Amino acid sequence: MTAPDRRNHRFIALFAALVLVLAALGPGAAAAPAEPEPPPPTAGTFSDVPADSQFGPEIEWLAGRGVTTGWLEPDGTRTFRPLEPIARNAMAAFLHRLAGQPPVTLPEASPFADVSPTTPFYPEIMWAHQEGITTGWTEANGTRTFRPWNPIARDAMAAFLFRYSGEPEVVTEGPLPFGDVRPGDAFHREIAWLATRGVTTGWPTASGCREYRPLSPIARDAMAAFLHRLVNGGVEMPPSECGVPTPTPVDCAETRCVALTFDDGPGVHSERLLDLLKQEEVPATFFVVGQRVPTRAASVARMVAEGHQVGNHSYTHPEFPKLTGEAQRAEIERTDTVIVAAGAPKPTVFRPPFGAWDAATRRVAAMPLILWNVDTLDWKHRDPAQTLAITLRDTRPGSIVLMHETHATTIEAVPEVIDALRARGYTFVTIADLLPNARAGSVYYSRTSVAPASEVNVDRLLTGDLQPSTGVPGP
Ligand code: NI
Repeated sequence: MTAPDRRNHRFIALFAALVLVLAALGPGAAAAPAEPEPPPPTAGTFSDVPADSQFGPEIEWLAGRGVTTGWLEPDGTRTFRPLEPIARNAMAAFLHRLAGQPPVTLPEASPFADVSPTTPFYPEIMWAHQEGITTGWTEANGTRTFRPWNPIARDAMAAFLFRYSGEPEVVTEGPLPFGDVRPGDAFHREIAWLATRGVTTGWPTASGCREYRPLSPIARDAMAAFLHRLVNGGVEMPPSECGVPTPTPVDCAETRCVALTFDDGPGVHSERLLDLLKQEEVPATFFVVGQRVPTRAASVARMVAEGHQVGNHSYTHPEFPKLTGEAQRAEIERTDTVIVAAGAPKPTVFRPPFGAWDAATRRVAAMPLILWNVDTLDWKHRDPAQTLAITLRDTRPGSIVLMHETHATTIEAVPEVIDALRARGYTFVTIADLLPNARAGSVYYSRTSVAPASEVNVDRLLTGDLQPSTGVPGP
């Protein structure tokens, strides 16, 4: 290759990169020469949105509200590019405009390592962060990131809209119409809310079920439809029969439910415990300690594969009230990250170590706090007979039973605990099934004993004189 050739190639590569950057800036980027401040759009704004296209009216509505301006093309027409995905930074801008462009107080420093004041839509991203619409990720090195250029996935879109709407209570009737969104999946609650509001209907499948495609990027035309329905009212969900894959949820208001919970794993006894639970066909909930997950990721994956729920029990098992809110948040998010890396859904429930929490915990957890009303004290007496006796003495319909999978004596008690509770008419459920409408920031001791997030001065109101349940686990 000659030197002029190489220069030529370099020029073409640079030009291609420039085109990509301009295309990505897309909606309303004031900085992008491809889209200067336009005159107010009118009906029929976009040359690539025909009047009879699927979401034409919704796209026109979005343009009319000034939420999107599209791109000015060389021929003088405007385009909306309805099938392109949306980057996360652009989504922040859309929501900010939908909210009426409230003023933004910029922070002294960006909370995200990958977002700086020169990042397109920096004020809008700061606004979305301050409003709690986006939390970003905690990376393995401890920094937080927003991933501004990533396409926003449909499940994250559900979470953005749910938080934008103030995290309303989610009331669902029956199973979700989507076969690909199950209880325990990441953002299950947010997607359920979106479906009950008629904001999303998903797609029909060949079997008569519907699917939401939670991990797919959302296209710009579907985003327009979502925002239109969010503001102007939803559409009716077409019929959906998802058949076997979605199990009928247990109604614990009618059934004698009990949730067995196992803390502080995964550990040396996890596989044996999973064998026992599989043999008995009993679902349980595991509150795992983040720092123990990477070396036993296969056990965590097996928990999920066999129908159990995996909850967050912090990364290093500290006493949360002794930590700042930010340190508490880091403990929780780091644990979420390793659990997801192990192949499990992002946890939807958090159990503070030692059952100790404060107002900051409720705020930063962004999940329900799951305590217990049956304390087997298995860590203390290490006696299978006592574990059984305490469980039988204290369990009521709707109870949450605390045990620790770190003790061989607890595993030993499990078959008898299951037999005895079954003989008394109990059905075993996960926390997700026991508390299908659990709310972030609320504290649950059983199905009916709750300290709601809206209450003030309830810190430790119901925790009484709880003893630390374990020591700090080893590395
Ligand atoms: Ni613990």
